[in-house]
Amino acid sequence: METINTVEQLRRTVAGWRAQGMRTAVVPTMGALHDGHVALVQHGLRLADRVVVTIFVNPKQFSAHEDLGKYPRDEAGDRRKLKQAGAHIIYAPATLEMYPEGFATEVVTSGPAKVGLEDRFRPHFFNGVTTAVAKLFIQAGCDYAMFGEKDYQQLKVVTRMAGDLDIPSVVIAVPTVRETDGLAMSSRNAYLSREERARAPLIHQELEAAAAAIRNGTAPAHAAAAAARALTQSDFRVDYIEARNADTLAELHAESDPVRLLAAAWLGSTRLIDNVPVSS
Ligand code: PAJ
Repeated sequence: METINTVEQLRRTVAGWRAQGMRTAVVPTMGALHDGHVALVQHGLRLADRVVVTIFVNPKQFSAHEDLGKYPRDEAGDRRKLKQAGAHIIYAPATLEMYPEGFATEVVTSGPAKVGLEDRFRPHFFNGVTTAVAKLFIQAGCDYAMFGEKDYQQLKVVTRMAGDLDIPSVVIAVPTVRETDGLAMSSRNAYLSREERARAPLIHQELEAAAAAIRNGTAPAHAAAAAARALTQSDFRVDYIEARNADTLAELHAESDPVRLLAAAWLGSTRLIDNVPVSS
């Protein structure tokens, strides 16, 4: 499994595969890989002959007060997990390869990027994500691009962006991989103290309880508010828990709308996000 650091090498490699008639998939990540990332690689391997995993901690999606400087890094562990998963290439560009001196372009998104969920609390986040992801898509030129449902709003934003910009890579959604106690796997779980880690699964438990209540006829807003109260009582600081249209992430209008519950909450100094399907 080769590691590539330049756009030119990446292009040459993927073009070689395509010339042999191989199908290709890209898995964009920021490293500190866990079984959620590995599931994206495995799903990619089911669709494609060759899988590229990109590892780039993208400074443009962190604001000044966020955790760019201390974002977890584990190059040796990442390499080992990807080799074992059967990935073919790691693409790990330096920041200056992605954003050379004088870089002056930004991909600006609205639609699912402006619905008052993550965007309300991290206003610069999605344009930072789409600027990096659009470049990765164009650089890699793969048939498929794998994204996790764990970051559900991001999945919707990236899918919309690829469609709007006529980027030919098909965005594939992969279900959230969880720890045995239900906590969604995340590189940021490494920040949790032992005591916080023990309480962290409550987010998922409350989301599932709210989803069950909605399916049993409770009004979505009431179920979400009850989940928020329960988390607050357990010393989480809730940014949001909301039931939204699962396709558009807009507020619910009709009984027939597909529903997804989405949440973000702080446990100490760690921000956790999660979401669950309610109806489709
Ligand atoms: P990162 O947080 O490293 O996540 C990379 C990919 O792994 C995303 O598509 C994310 O949704 C998926 N993922 C993370 N945890 C998961 C889990 N428990 N189950 C399933 N999939 C999971 O998301 C980013 O990086 C960045 O914003 C990026 C898209 C790479 C752009 O910089």
